Amino acid sequence: METRDAGGIGFTAGTWPLDASKSTLVFLHGSGGSNVLWHGQVDALAGRVNTVSLDLPGRGLSAGPGMRSIPAYARAVTDLVAAIEAPRPIACGLSLGGGIALQLLLDQPDRFEAGILIGTGARLRVMPAILEGIQRNYEAHLSSLDMAASPRTDREVLRPILESNARCPAEVALGDFLACDAFDVMARLGEIEVPVLVVSGADDKLTPPKYADFLEKSIRRTQRAHIADAGHLSPAEKPEEVNRAIVGFLDEVGL
Ligand code: COA
Repeated sequence: METRDAGGIGFTAGTWPLDASKSTLVFLHGSGGSNVLWHGQVDALAGRVNTVSLDLPGRGLSAGPGMRSIPAYARAVTDLVAAIEAPRPIACGLSLGGGIALQLLLDQPDRFEAGILIGTGARLRVMPAILEGIQRNYEAHLSSLDMAASPRTDREVLRPILESNARCPAEVALGDFLACDAFDVMARLGEIEVPVLVVSGADDKLTPPKYADFLEKSIRRTQRAHIADAGHLSPAEKPEEVNRAIVGFLDEVGL
């Protein structure tokens, strides 16, 4: 794994330089998170594809303030993909990151070869208690985050993610959730023509499988993976199952 920076956006890559003969998975994390989410993918999938896992602006490896809209984050991702000349990019996101991936597929139909949408939806309204909790008592909000995972998930698996979330400034996390709350592309999914893998966690309470059902039926070319005993953080909770679904999808669509 190699850590690099382009235009103020920091990222890790499974191998560097990127291999021009392979597709590139561009991994996008969720609200208040970081690229630590994808540690079970970046190296494990690097033999099959290029893997690039970035920190969105405002946290971790990435400079500057956070943003408050999914289209704004999508533009930052577009700039990075262009700067590193990622070959045949595939937008792969979870939650907020899944919203960004959808925005990229909608806004740039010719730029991204495919999408992978994990624990996300075409509309991402946020419980007012989450928005208020971040502003009123960020520590308490952070300590409630392990609820995002399945009750069956070993809490040790979540530790690096929770530690990384704790380093995200409250204002940046709030901006992420406000970006989700304003997001709604339910009426536009029919515009997407590239193949899309939809992954849901059976125990996901934050973006329930119903959201994935809607993506699966509304996007023209979809494959679906439904992961048992996983919650909202399936790439970390069930990395082998998620990676198997990703490789199966890539094989099927020839990327
Ligand atoms: N895909 C498919 N259906 C969706 C959807 C999506 N992405 N988002 C919402 N819907 C459906 C809901 O299930 C609901 O259907 P129903 O009327 O048949 O029950 C309807 O659209 C309206 O839901 P919503 O837009 O979410 O508004 P709401 O006022 O009913 O609920 C919340 C607001 C915040 C309570 C609710 O969205 C929620 O519980 N969200 C999940 C928890 C959360 O905060 N997640 C964080 C995501 S980053």
